[in-house]
Amino acid sequence: MSAMRKNIEDMQGYVPGYQPPDEAAWIKLNTNENPYPPSPRVAEAIRNELGESGETLRKYPDAASRQARKDAAELYGFDPSWVITANGSDELLNNLIRAFAGEGEEIAYIHPSYSYYATLAQIQGASIRTFGLTEDLRIADFPPRYEGKLFFLTSPNAPLGFAFSIAYIDEIASRCSGVLVVDEAYVDFADQNALDLVKKHENVVVTRTFSKSYALAGMRLGLALARPEIIAALDKIRDHYHLDRLALVAASASLKDQRYLAETVRKIRDTREWFATELRGIGYSLIPSQTNFVFASPPDRNGKRVYEGLFGRKILVRYFSDPLLAHGLRITIGTRDEMEKTLAALKDIG
Ligand SMILES: Cc1ncc(COP(=O)(O)O)c(C=O)c1O
Repeated sequence: MSAMRKNIEDMQGYVPGYQPPDEAAWIKLNTNENPYPPSPRVAEAIRNELGESGETLRKYPDAASRQARKDAAELYGFDPSWVITANGSDELLNNLIRAFAGEGEEIAYIHPSYSYYATLAQIQGASIRTFGLTEDLRIADFPPRYEGKLFFLTSPNAPLGFAFSIAYIDEIASRCSGVLVVDEAYVDFADQNALDLVKKHENVVVTRTFSKSYALAGMRLGLALARPEIIAALDKIRDHYHLDRLALVAASASLKDQRYLAETVRKIRDTREWFATELRGIGYSLIPSQTNFVFASPPDRNGKRVYEGLFGRKILVRYFSDPLLAHGLRITIGTRDEMEKTLAALKDIG
């Protein structure tokens, strides 16, 4: 259609992980969802907000998400002017590109990491540069001074699962002329986070999601921490009522139940370590994971063969045909029972 922008016409669009229509029949380990429910306080807060009749839904939500931001700010030790909540961290990644990278201007990210950055850049008409990884999991050929508008550093990395050290992220922040976005979608499963760098460097933004550790993928919630100037820019360009009333109370309730979060994360980390040891025992190679998934390669390094074997047994994991990743599979950590069944299937597949 001639009226359409050429970059939109030309682009493919992002393909999310497969969501089977008969979801209950599967062990679903392909989109890094949490196998446990969210804090019970979330359902309680949603019921309270709805009341008997859903009367509150008549009215718009608080456009500024003040309570949710205040709760996040308190938890992470920032002033609320340094915090923005959003409709999934994807919304923040999108709005960061819209705020900082004009048409033809460059954004960068690591390949392999989260390919949605590229889709968002294509929509904006920004140009894209990718950096590879060295054998020892540092960024290959990162220039002494990177001049692009935005650099997305996924740490912990998805789909590989490792995290960069904070000292290394600190150094990368100093080498970026533009903004360094540390995408910490999986950081609650890791040993360290980069929040101190937000205070130390003017150009560091940290994004977080409620979709993984807080078990709220279905609610669509994320947040970012950054200097007030950056938060103000993100506020200008977002949809004004981007978070509905139920999402807002869910955000506050889950942030306030840190005991529940810690317990859920502990269970997943324990299962992750058990599963990783078992996989190594049957000849798989794994990168030590700081996330709620593992990237594992079978002895014959044929990810597709094992993916298909699991698929036939109604176990869904993530296979990437990319030549850098086709030797392995990204497997979300489910419950211990789900992982025992997955392990048995992997032994059976051989
Ligand atoms: C690295 C990374 N960043 C961001 C996201 C998006 O998270 P959200 O569900 O908050 O939009 C994901 C989701 O899988 C992810 O893996």
